[in-house]
Amino acid sequence: MDTNVIEIKNNVFWVGSVDYDLRHFHGHTFSTPNGTTYNSYLILDEYPTLVDGVFGPFTDEWIGKIKSKIEISKIKNLIVNHIEPDHSRSLPELIKINPSLKIFGTEKCKSGLKKMYGLSNLNFQVVKTGDEINIGQKSLKFVEATMIHWPDSMFTYCPEEKLLLPNDAFGQHLATKERFDEEVETRKLEHEAQEYYANILWPFSGLIKNKIAEIENLGWEIDMIAPSHGLIWKNPGKAFELYKKWTEGVTKNKVMIAYETMWGATEIMANKFAEGIKAVGVEVKVMDVNKDGKTKIVTEMLEAKGFMFGSSTHDNGALPNFSGFLHFVKGLRPTNRIGMAFGSFGWGAVGSGEIEKYMSEAGIAKVMDAMNINFSPDEEELKKCFEIGKEFGERVKS
Ligand code: FEO
Repeated sequence: MDTNVIEIKNNVFWVGSVDYDLRHFHGHTFSTPNGTTYNSYLILDEYPTLVDGVFGPFTDEWIGKIKSKIEISKIKNLIVNHIEPDHSRSLPELIKINPSLKIFGTEKCKSGLKKMYGLSNLNFQVVKTGDEINIGQKSLKFVEATMIHWPDSMFTYCPEEKLLLPNDAFGQHLATKERFDEEVETRKLEHEAQEYYANILWPFSGLIKNKIAEIENLGWEIDMIAPSHGLIWKNPGKAFELYKKWTEGVTKNKVMIAYETMWGATEIMANKFAEGIKAVGVEVKVMDVNKDGKTKIVTEMLEAKGFMFGSSTHDNGALPNFSGFLHFVKGLRPTNRIGMAFGSFGWGAVGSGEIEKYMSEAGIAKVMDAMNINFSPDEEELKKCFEIGKEFGERVKS
């Protein structure tokens, strides 16, 4: 059992858990080959305060870490920034040990916590944006963060320590022994943050953009962001810079070609399009939904201006796994992107039609007609794929 406790600020301790074994998150929507962490923070002051919990299987470990610093019965306050089970499933046990704990959270947090765990008689104080509590030498301020990414979400800020505790925001699914951004390679951290943003927070980009502006307008001095997943940012400027880029939908001249193939013809088309795209100097990535997985594809899509989606026709539409991928993309609601569908077929070219329908529902602008090829591409058709790749690349540049 891990007993590691780290002081991240003066009398503010990381008491979280590192989950090296987690391979899927949010059902199977997010592949997590690098695991994750559930970060919880203990603030020792006149009124000792915990911020957020950990996932259920780590409850005993978490309580042990807290007890290494203070008796559970002496903790006065529990801040619940977010009730999703990865952060809250350990809370009923804590509340059972210390039923007089005063809990702070949003109205939705209060009702959700009660319903999720069948808890009654909670000593709960609802807080709103602008509310503040004093815990001794330090104070805590709250900002509601509705739909970033659940209705109950909120951020907590400690002005004395210039510390922002935004729960899921700025997080990464990354299990490591390191705790701070400066301890890992910058590119790796940025990639993990991008993967988390693309797969979880992308649909809420407008709200996040406004929330960042709101925090900037509050004039809060922040020299550390301690999210509830992954590494802690000692360089909050970098975290804000990345989030501003993603929330504003900044893209590069890059095409993401995602496909699923039955007998290889759609894959051949994908690679030939890529040759054409490269020929006009545009970056391109070709990925197979089954081999590479939607988590990695969506991460690449976050910075790509153009999407080419292809599937062989199967029954009355695209291949089933590709339909699932398209359904996921629709939920991400990407903005300012252009797209084109393609695929092979045997006796009815309907796969690309389903792709176009999903692209339309996702808000991806169709800029070129779908390309369908019967059975296998011949030499002429391969030349056409190359030319279409060039044309799509030019449209990405324009
Ligand atoms: Fe990390 Fe929305 O839970």
